[in-house]
Amino acid sequence: MAFLLKGAHVVDPANGLDGIMDVKVDGERIVEVGENLSADACEVIELSGKYLVPGLVDMHVHLREPGYEHKGTIESETRAAAKGGMTGVCSMPNTDPVTDNGTVVEYVKSVAAREGHCRVFPAGACSKGLKGEILSEMGDMVAHGAVAFTDDGRGVQGAGMMRRCMDYGKMFNKTFMSHAQDEDLVGEGQVNEGVCSTRLGLLGWPAEGEEIQIARDIALARLTGAKLHIQHISTARGVELVRAAKAEGLPVTCEATPHHMFLTEDAITGTYDTRLKVNPPLRTAADAEAVIAGVVDGTVDAIVTDHAPHAAWEKSREFELAPFGMTGIEASLALVLTNLVAKGTIDYGRMVELMSINPRRILGLEPVGVVAGSLADLTVFNPACSWTVGEDGYESKADNCGFDGCAVTGRATDVFVGGKQTLRDGVVL
Ligand code: NCD
Ligand code: ZN
Repeated sequence: MAFLLKGAHVVDPANGLDGIMDVKVDGERIVEVGENLSADACEVIELSGKYLVPGLVDMHVHLREPGYEHKGTIESETRAAAKGGMTGVCSMPNTDPVTDNGTVVEYVKSVAAREGHCRVFPAGACSKGLKGEILSEMGDMVAHGAVAFTDDGRGVQGAGMMRRCMDYGKMFNKTFMSHAQDEDLVGEGQVNEGVCSTRLGLLGWPAEGEEIQIARDIALARLTGAKLHIQHISTARGVELVRAAKAEGLPVTCEATPHHMFLTEDAITGTYDTRLKVNPPLRTAADAEAVIAGVVDGTVDAIVTDHAPHAAWEKSREFELAPFGMTGIEASLALVLTNLVAKGTIDYGRMVELMSINPRRILGLEPVGVVAGSLADLTVFNPACSWTVGEDGYESKADNCGFDGCAVTGRATDVFVGGKQTLRDGVVL
């Protein structure tokens, strides 16, 4: 049966929409958008007071399956994604086996089709085993549906190797996503190098370790013509490098996480909370401000979570022994609404660009809009709902959310993926 989404405030900047409208969905697509649409032969879903936007896509998510099901599974982490308002995620390849050939891509897709609560777009590794030595089976992965290439979890260490990845892989017209980090320079670093590492007596991880590879990869994008996307950008000079690359007209984009915008190294105190141990590390307040400035002026293209579930026992070890990463997909929409939109730093339209339109564009996915003919991938949220992150637990298998206990306003209530409802009144279906 068709259904009518009634009376929500629709925001879709790509189609110039910003106002109260009805949206009729039949099958997997939107069939009509307008005022006071007839409800004949439709199930009516009343959405007044809520916002309806093109479905959110988080283009940096660790689903952990195959291989690390003790941290999270495709079922549990896409469940968390749906709870957070996501209609799709791009899954990272640091699985076991590594997603470096078509068989693993096919595996992820087939489990997602069977058990997933949102669309899963797998990213394939650049190099076999994420080792930075031998090219991955890029063509095979693309044939099986890989949407981008990255060695995320690590940077490709050799400049020559990265150049070969880009030179070879660009024939598939996919984006190279770079986890920029010079391992020789960052070594065993645990937190940002400077005040934080000194205060806590931990090995530091200099901003330059990230910036050197951002600069290198921009140079390689210039050399090869391949599309480059800088992942989880965290430093002021990194943002400046991307800004300059864009001004030059290079095919360079970048993403930022809520934790690199709304948390700083100052959050890590003498309790050594391992949820705040992330890669790249939380940086200074000036860095966070610069990342937000990039979000405002268009330098930053996408907001992503880098959702990285870990088991409780892994995170309850000493700070130096705990793995890097925090979860966040259940909170990111609320964090962006609370910290950027409600404060007037960005408007709803820009939020939709950052969390829906641009991720799809960078990954080369079919565009989604609130217009007749579009896939009915839609996110509905209540902008007035105040809640506390983690108060009801998490849908994710893991609870290493660095924003646990934060008061936020705004929450996804309903999500549709290809016309199928995956979240209803805040409950994952
Ligand atoms: C990620 C993980 O746990 O897989 N951890 C993290 O801190 N970001 C790896 C990564 O994305 O770098
Ligand atoms: Zn990463």
